[in-house]
Parts: sequence; structure tokens; C-alpha cells
Amino acid sequence: MDAGHTSVCPALIRSATSEDRLYSEKLILGMEAMIKLNINLAERSYPIYITSDYNSIGKSLASAKISGRIVVVTDSNVDRQQACDFMEALGNAGCNVEKYVIPAGENSKNLDIIKGIYQYLIEKKLDRGGTLIALGGGVVGDITGFAAATFLRGINFVQVPTSTLAQADSSVGGKVGVNFENKKNIIGAFYQPKFVYMNVNTLKTLPRREFQAGLAEVIKHGIIMDPDFFNFIDYNMKKILSYDIDVLQYIAKQNCTIKGNVVEQDEKESGLRAILNFGHTIGHAIESAKNFELLHGECVSLGMAGAFKMARHLDMVNDETVARAVRVLESAGLPVRLPGMSVDEVYEHLFYDKKIKNNKLLFILPKKIGEVVQLTIEDTALIRKVLTELF
Ligand SMILES: NC(=O)c1ccc[n+]([C@@H]2O[C@H](COP(=O)([O-])OP(=O)(O)OC[C@H]3O[C@@H](n4cnc5c(N)ncnc54)[C@H](O)[C@@H]3O)[C@@H](O)[C@H]2O)c1
Ligand SMILES: [Zn+2]
Repeated sequence: MDAGHTSVCPALIRSATSEDRLYSEKLILGMEAMIKLNINLAERSYPIYITSDYNSIGKSLASAKISGRIVVVTDSNVDRQQACDFMEALGNAGCNVEKYVIPAGENSKNLDIIKGIYQYLIEKKLDRGGTLIALGGGVVGDITGFAAATFLRGINFVQVPTSTLAQADSSVGGKVGVNFENKKNIIGAFYQPKFVYMNVNTLKTLPRREFQAGLAEVIKHGIIMDPDFFNFIDYNMKKILSYDIDVLQYIAKQNCTIKGNVVEQDEKESGLRAILNFGHTIGHAIESAKNFELLHGECVSLGMAGAFKMARHLDMVNDETVARAVRVLESAGLPVRLPGMSVDEVYEHLFYDKKIKNNKLLFILPKKIGEVVQLTIEDTALIRKVLTELF
């Protein structure tokens, strides 16, 4: 993964040591306009731009040699909060652009919405030189990407993620798709965007609970791969929660670097990419047992707390490491216990997971902060014990 910085202080270009990341203000002080990273996937390679406004969208489109007609797909909330500024930036860049708005929320992630997008594109006579831009969270990104992957056998696709989860996770990696017959993400494709454009300032209009829930995936990235990044998050939590733009840009950069590295090594999820599911085994089970009342990141936080507890019982980590992980999750305002939840119900949902092999549960467990391993856990008493400790 190459980090090309368009206009960032030289201190960021060298690789940071644990100590100077801890005292990060020095490192990120003076960070300006735009950071550029590259996801290297042969002919599907693409850049990610991390910035704090929409002003460079025209330049980014030109670099990707995108000049045809553009349809921006967004949802009703993002339309109210962000679309005006975004459309203005596209207009200033002289783009020929239209907007298609879908209802906000996970319920929109279905084939009827896709059908509506296809009909709109046909009505507008979008041709193979056309481009779909996803302006929104993970829902808009997944839907728009799927429409772009399939319309005319594939047209240009650009991601402009506006939620913490989308900036940390869903906009990088090329997984697109919809839910079908109550099964999440069961229909989809791997379809990489031409580029990803992240304006971290968009996080300010995101509902606070959504903002914090997305931090679970950020903390996850530190735990699975990068202890220095975990330290950085721990040390800078107050700044993160007060939307310090330099800190948010640095965090976006590290998220994309970590997720990008994993995706570069395992684009189609045949091995390494599984570590991104840290916290998701128990997390997904809680999410469906609670009927999606809790946000995904909140469930992943509970799942990560559970994974640390399980690793402790298996003597893989010590009490201090568990306490530290739990403390950082709590400092982000994330849940680490869910009193009153039924152990039986969550236990049952654990076995519905589509990633289950031969009815054996696969867990990603921490060896330390910065390293995880994938293990099959057959000890059902241990699984129940961990759930009891969580609820
Ligand atoms: N493709 C992948 O690799 C991948 C990875 C993880 C999750 N996902 C998918 O992502 C989806 C969840 O994404 P999400 O958490 O972003 O949900 P979301 O897209 O529903 O966004 C959450 C809420 O915030 C609103 N919102 C988004 N940005 C906003 C902004 N800047 N200002 C105001 N409101 C804003 C949305 O309208 C919505 O109400 C799920 O469908 C999940 O399956 C995909
Ligand atoms: Zn997740």
C-alpha cells in the first residue's frame, strides 16, 4: 500500500514509532488539505483521498479520467445534511450531474430500491461512460456499488462515505450488495470503486450515536493489527469525540491503511480478510437476537469485549490487557455489557452465522493488542460462560 501525500507535513511520511504516535499532536500538527493513499489491486487499483471538504472532488474525478454524466445516489438524511455542498462542489467543477435520493435506513438495502435506480438510469439514458457516486453511509455505498456493478455490466463507481462506519470500513474493499428475504448481504459482488473520497467533516452531522458506534470498527483495526494505532486512539479519545479534524483525518488514514493492507492480500476473503471479523461472531448474534435494535458497532463492541473475555479464559491474554481493551471501548461510549440479554437466545443465533463451517464456531481471538488468531471453539460451556459474563 503506497501512501502518497499531496500536501501533508513531512513528519507524516516517515513511519511513526510508537512513542511519537502517542504524542501525536506533534505528528499531525500542520496536516493540511488532502492525504492520498493507494489500494493496490493490479488493474483494479484505486486511490483514497482523505480531506476535510468537498473542494477537490472535481480534481479527483479528472485524475480518474471521469468526464461523462454523473448520478449521485444518496439517502434522505444525507440529502438534507450534505448533498447541497457536495452538488455545489460538483457544479463548480463543471460536472454534468443529477441526484437520486433513496429513503434512509437498512430497509432500503433491497432489490426494489435497485430496480428504482436502474429505472432512473434508463430514463436518464446513462451510458457506459456514466458514473454513479455513492454519497452516504454503508447502506448507500453497498446499494450504489451493486447498481454500478450490474448496470450495463458495470459502470464507473465512486464512494463518498459520510458515516464513521463507511469511512472506517465499508467504503474500502469493494464488497457491495443488498439484503434478500431477511438475509443480510446475501446478494452482491466484489466491485472496486474508481476512487474513494472521504471528507471527515461530514461526521459532524452524523447522529452522535452513529458516530460513536462506528468507532468500534476503528478500535477493532488497532486491536487486530496495529498496537501503535490503538495507543493513538486511547490517547486521543477526547479529541476524537470533539471532532478534532486533524485527529479524524489521521484516524481515517490509519483505518484505510490497515483495511487496505488486508484487502490487498486477500481481496475475495479466502483467508486473512477473516481477521476483520474480530468481534463479529458474538456481535452478529447479538445484533440479530436484538432484532437490529442496537447499532452494528455497538454489537461489535460487545463482541470484542466477549472475545477478550474468551481469550482470557484460554490464557491467551492477561487481565490487564482485557481491562485496557474494555476501558478504551467504554471511553468511546460503546457498550461492553448488555444486562438482561438472554444467553440462550444469543447462543442460538451464534449458529445462524453464514460463516459457520460444519456447525463449528470460528472466533477471532486476541493474542495481544495488535495481533489476533482465528480459532475453532468447540467448548460450548466456555461460550456460554463468556455470554453470561457479558449479560
Ligand atoms: N461493504 C462492506 O464491506 C461493509 C462493511 C461493513 C458494513 N457494511 C454495511 O454498511 C451498512 C451500515 O452502514 P452505516 O452504519 O453507515 O449505516 P447507514 O448508511 O444506514 O448510515 C447510518 C445513518 O446515518 C445517516 N447518515 C450517514 N451519514 C450522515 C451524515 N454525514 N450526516 C447525517 N446523517 C448521516 C444515514 O442516513 C443513516 O440514517 C450496513 O448495511 C452494513 O451491512 C458494509
Ligand atoms: Zn462490522
